[in-house]
Amino acid sequence: MASASRSFTRALRTAAPSFRSTSTRSARFVAPQQAFRQQYQRRGYASEEPAKDKYEGNPSGLIYGAGALAAVAAGYGVYLMNPQLFGQTAKETAVFAPKFDDYQKVYDDIAKRLQEHDDYDDGSYGPVLLRLAWHASGTYDKLTNTGGSNGATMRFAPEGDHGANAGLKAARDFLEPVKEAFPWISYSDLWILAGVAAIQEMQGPKVPYRPGRTDRDLSFCTPDGRLPDASQGASHIRAIFGRMGFGDKEMVALSGAHALGRCHTDRSGFDGPWTFSPTTLTNDYYKLLLEERWSYKKWNGPKQFEDVKTKSLMMLPTDMELIKDKSFRAYTEKYARDNDAFFKDFSEAVTTLFELGVPFTHPEDQKWVFKSSFD
Ligand code: HEM
Repeated sequence: MASASRSFTRALRTAAPSFRSTSTRSARFVAPQQAFRQQYQRRGYASEEPAKDKYEGNPSGLIYGAGALAAVAAGYGVYLMNPQLFGQTAKETAVFAPKFDDYQKVYDDIAKRLQEHDDYDDGSYGPVLLRLAWHASGTYDKLTNTGGSNGATMRFAPEGDHGANAGLKAARDFLEPVKEAFPWISYSDLWILAGVAAIQEMQGPKVPYRPGRTDRDLSFCTPDGRLPDASQGASHIRAIFGRMGFGDKEMVALSGAHALGRCHTDRSGFDGPWTFSPTTLTNDYYKLLLEERWSYKKWNGPKQFEDVKTKSLMMLPTDMELIKDKSFRAYTEKYARDNDAFFKDFSEAVTTLFELGVPFTHPEDQKWVFKSSFD
């Protein structure tokens, strides 16, 4: 059934104007990434030791001192004539402070890789990139101000091995060449930027971004159990998202991300996509929840729902709470009626999610909005 629905969604994507089809999208990607890469690999970074600019000779030996001075002078002459021998030019010794354009280039590289690597799942790494950004952020605990996207601690086994994070290595590996091309960006800023790019490249709303996350060591890994358990009910959803500081509106708006991607039996144990267009962000998730009839899937796996009509779509027990619980249902109905309202609330909630617990120095009112391939 999963492969049948996969073929169906692939066919849909091929037929409809979709994720990969815009002719304007590739124009900006012809920029010579290689040249850019080389340029930045030669730069100095904030984390590097500052070059010593003074000679520190041995004051006790005049001869040694004079000799050393001469050697330094000679060396300096060689340096002036052949700075490349020293791996840098004088201009480049300044600490590199990346700006909006530099981050846009990272965005473009992610978008380009998304286009190039369309042989994954339903044709895109977009959904799993978004899930990486969400699981990096969704560990936040407002009471202790721990967890959240600052730190990228999922790189380390204690957190990477949490059951909820199964399968996210695919997303982290996908981003490794981007990190190599732009070594100045932290993993934690990169993962969130990739989440932003995934949403925008899958035709979702603009998601404002600001940098400032730093990578931390494994002592900052969060304990297991902070991410939601799909087999639970409304009180669990409220407990998990409430711990991050969210209310019912945000919980329902964020869940709309399940318009994207699919469940995998070898990751969560659940199986199948939520919508017929799992690489395009729309309000279809809410529409399908309300308009389709859902029944328990008869199988050996964990309790999940399937649509009675085609048996090719799925809902998790937590998804079904969005129509069972009265307060959640009101938002589900609103977003099913009004895609613009969904996009607005989703963008606001996901921006907040991605920033939880991050000690920014970049001003709150100066967030960046990246150009997507569709602009
Ligand atoms: C009650 C809250 C949530 C629960 C219980 C939940 C649970 C799950 C589960 C079980 C999967 C399948 C994983 C797999 O087998 O590969 C999944 C996938 C996914 N989730 Fe959630 N999720 C929740 C909230 C969210 C939120 C807030 C977002 C983003 C804002 C999100 C984005 C995604 C995406 C994009 C996928 C597809 C990943 C892929 O295709 O590889 N989820 N979720």
